[in-house]
Amino acid sequence: MSPFELHYAFRAPEHAALLDDLTTVCPDAVRTYVDEDGSALLAGLRERLTDQPLGTHLSVCGPAPMMDAVLGLARTLGWPESRLHLERFALDEAPRRPFSVRLKSTDEVIDVPEELTLLEALEDRGIEVPYLCRQGVCGECRTPVVDGTPDHRDVFLTADERAAGDALMPCVSRCARGPLVLDL
Ligand code: FES
Repeated sequence: MSPFELHYAFRAPEHAALLDDLTTVCPDAVRTYVDEDGSALLAGLRERLTDQPLGTHLSVCGPAPMMDAVLGLARTLGWPESRLHLERFALDEAPRRPFSVRLKSTDEVIDVPEELTLLEALEDRGIEVPYLCRQGVCGECRTPVVDGTPDHRDVFLTADERAAGDALMPCVSRCARGPLVLDL
């Protein structure tokens, strides 16, 4: 196998959903960063990207702003486009329509206008849902659904989990058929 390093950044240890798997599979290759704003990751990468042998490739996967920052750093350091790779997740860009959700614990009804995500609407009402990517990728914001049919727009849930309809990612997913009731 070709030598490699894996640089894994997350906002807090509880958001490092893949860490156990990665350190099991390739313990010597993983470098971690607890990083609120990306500065630690970029500082670590700046050091590593400057001394890689010719022919080294850089592959980036994660939230778009992070990928843009890392690839921008690599370009600044002179990495050619032919050695830069990224994986963008093809999120569902279907038009947004307004909808409402009800919270099971309080019976509170929350309106979600088309310009907001469900996660943003919950936050606006002071309801905290853990999140990481806000792009339907990481699964961190997974929220149980007790009634209604979600309009799944994430790339995290499996086909079976989508079909079950008992959870959704409020950072991107919306309502296909209401009333949508969340176990919050
Ligand atoms: S915050 Fe990552 S899937 Fe919602």
